[in-house]
Amino acid sequence: MPAKTPLALGPSAWPLGLDQIGYGGDYNPEQWPREVRKRDLELMRGAGVNFLSVGIFSWAKLEPREGEYDFDWLDEVLDDLHSIGVRVALATATAAPPPWLTTKHPEILPVSSTGVVLGQGSRQSYCPNSPVYAEYSAGITRRVAERYREHPALALWHVDNELGCHNFHCYSPDCVLAFREWLGKRYGAVEAVNHAWGTAFWSQGYSTLDEINPPAAAPTFLNPTQQLDYQRFLFDSQREVFRRLVSVLREVTPGVPATTNFMLAGSKDLNYLRWGEDMDVVANDHYTQAANHERHIELAMSADMTRAAARSNPWILMEHSTSAVNWQPINRAKPDGEMLRNSLNHLARGADSIMFFQWRQGRAGSEKFHSAMVPHAERDSVVWRNTVALGAALRALAPVKGTRVRAEAAIMVDSEAWWASEIDCKPSEAHRYGTEVAEAYRELWRRNITTDFVHPSWDLTGYRLIVVPALYLVNDADAERLTAAVAAGATVVITYFSGISDENDHVRLGGYPGAFKQLLGIHTDEFYPLLADEQVEFDTGGHAHIWTERIETRGAEARITLASGPLQGWPAVTRATHGAGTAWYQGVDLDRATRASLYDEILADASVAPLRELPAPVAGPAGGSLRGASEPVEAQVELVRRTGEQGSFLFVFNHGDALAEVPARGLELLRGQEVDGVAHVPGGGVAVIQEA
Ligand code: GLA
Repeated sequence: MPAKTPLALGPSAWPLGLDQIGYGGDYNPEQWPREVRKRDLELMRGAGVNFLSVGIFSWAKLEPREGEYDFDWLDEVLDDLHSIGVRVALATATAAPPPWLTTKHPEILPVSSTGVVLGQGSRQSYCPNSPVYAEYSAGITRRVAERYREHPALALWHVDNELGCHNFHCYSPDCVLAFREWLGKRYGAVEAVNHAWGTAFWSQGYSTLDEINPPAAAPTFLNPTQQLDYQRFLFDSQREVFRRLVSVLREVTPGVPATTNFMLAGSKDLNYLRWGEDMDVVANDHYTQAANHERHIELAMSADMTRAAARSNPWILMEHSTSAVNWQPINRAKPDGEMLRNSLNHLARGADSIMFFQWRQGRAGSEKFHSAMVPHAERDSVVWRNTVALGAALRALAPVKGTRVRAEAAIMVDSEAWWASEIDCKPSEAHRYGTEVAEAYRELWRRNITTDFVHPSWDLTGYRLIVVPALYLVNDADAERLTAAVAAGATVVITYFSGISDENDHVRLGGYPGAFKQLLGIHTDEFYPLLADEQVEFDTGGHAHIWTERIETRGAEARITLASGPLQGWPAVTRATHGAGTAWYQGVDLDRATRASLYDEILADASVAPLRELPAPVAGPAGGSLRGASEPVEAQVELVRRTGEQGSFLFVFNHGDALAEVPARGLELLRGQEVDGVAHVPGGGVAVIQEA
C-alpha cells in the first residue's frame, strides 16, 4: 500500500531537452560491433531519430563480474548519440540480472505458485521482494547514475523494463515474509485480517500473521479476499521496485525525470491508472495482434487508457513495432500503411513521442525475427523507407506537440474490480470484465466519440456520459461520487455484476447491485447466467448469451425486456432519472446491434455528439475494409482532435479501402496542402488538418 509518492516531479515533467516530437526506440548497441554502431549514427540522422532508450539489458556488459565495471563502451555510445543530437532515456540496466549474480545468490530467483524456481537464461529472473536483489539493483543503478549524471545526452531515466511482465506472480520465501509485513501495514492486527478475509468460513481463522501464506497451491478454492490481497500486494511489490530505484536516481540526479514502460491494455496484473501517479512522465508499450481484425480499435483503447494514466498530460509511446513481432503464434508483417496509421493514432490520442522496439533488428537471441526500425535488409527494405517517412511525418506535425485531447464521455475502469470479479466461484465464468469494457469502448469509437478512462476515485466533473462496466467491487466513497455526478446532471450506464461487493469483497446486503440500487431504481434478488449453448431474446429483437438477472423496477422503467428464457417478461435494460441526470442499467450482455440502438438513446440523454457526422466514402469498393472484415462504412473513418494554444488539429484515419471525404478547413500538415471545405483521404491514409 504505497503512500502517494513524494518522488514524482510534477505534471509538466518531460524528457530534458526533447523539444520536438520524440522519435526513436530501444537501442541495444552492446549487441553490435563498432562499425555497425557508426553506420547506425548515419542511419539515425537519415531517419530523423532524436530519442533512444539505451542500456535496458546491459547489466552483464556494464558489470561483467561483481564489482568490476566497464563503462567505456557506453561512454562512447552516449557521446556519439549526443554528437548527432539524440536525447537518451538511460536505463537502470536492472531488467535482467547477470549470471554471476544469480549464481552467487540463487535466492533472488522468482518462484512459481507450485514452488518451481524460475532460473537464469531469460530476463527479469528476480523476485521483486528479494532484499539481496534490491541491494544489487540499487548498486548498479547508483553506478550508472553517478557515471552519467552530467552527461549532456541524459534526458530521462528508464527504470528497469516493463516491470512485472515476467516475474509478477512470485511465491518465494522473501515474498511470504513481505506479504505478512504488507498485511500488518494494511490491517494492523491479525483480527482485522480475519475480518477482511471472512475467515470464519471453512475454519480459516489465523491467530498470528506468521501463520499466513500466499494463496499458492491448495486442495480446493482459496479464500477470495486472500487472493485479492495477494494480487494487491504483488502490484505494490512492483511499485516498490520502481520507487526504490527512483529514490536512488533522485538522490544523484534530482532534476532528471524517471519513468518505466507500462503495458496498458495488455496486462491485467498492474493497476496502471493508480501507478501513473508515481511517474514523472507516463510511457507505454503497445503491440497489435495480427489476428485481430479490429486491432486499430484495440490500439485506440490502449492509447486512451495511457492518456488516463498520464492524467491527460502528454505521454510517451515507448515501444511498438514497425512490422512483425516474434511472440505471437504467427508473426505476420504489417500491411502497407499500418505502421504510419498506428504511430499517428497514438499521437492523435496524446502521445508526444513515438518509439519502437527496437532500433536495429537483432542477429541473435529470441527476438531476432522481431521487426525494428532498421531491419535485416537495412536500407533495401519497405520497413526502412517507412522509418524514414515516419520521421518526416513527425517533423511536419511538430505544431501538435503539447496539445491535449478532450472528452465528454468516459469509461470507468478499476483493476481491483477486474481482479475481484474474475477470482473463482462467481455466478458465471463466461463473464469477462475486459469484454464489457472493450464493447462499450468500441461502440463509442465507432461513432467518433472521444473517450477518456477514469478511475472510480477520480473527479468526474465535466463528463456528460460515464459508462461503468462490471464494477463488481466498489467502496462507499467511490459509489457516492458516481451517484453525485448523476445527481449533478451526468448520464451513467452501469452494466451487470456491478456494485456487488465492498473493498474486502464482502457482498453488500439487501439486493443487487447493492452500491447502485437506489441510483438505478432497481432491485435484483437472483442471477440467471446463461448456459454455454443458451441464448435469450429481447423484445427489441436482439439477444443475450452470457447473463440475465431477475430485476424488479423500483422507480426505473424497463427499456428492453426479456422475451424468452427463464426470466421471460422481466426487464433487461432499465432507465431512471436521478436528480438532474439519468441512470441506465444494462442487466444483460448485449449483441452489437442492440448495443448500437441502445447507445442512440443513451447518447441523446447525455447530449454527447460525435466529433463530426461523416458522409459515406465516395469511391472504391463499397463496404470493404483494409482488414478484410465487413464493417459499416461509417466505422472506417476515425476522427480525433487535439487542441491547445497552437490551435486545433483534426486527425483523420481512413481504415477502409474507399476514398473518404471529410468536411474540414485548414492546412493539411503531412502534405502541406490547404483544405478548403473537404479533406480527401485515400483508403488506408491519414490526414492531419490544422483547423482554420
Ligand atoms: C516488450 C519488451 C521489449 C521487447 C518487446 C518485443 O515490450 O519491453 O524488450 O521484448 O516486448 O515485442
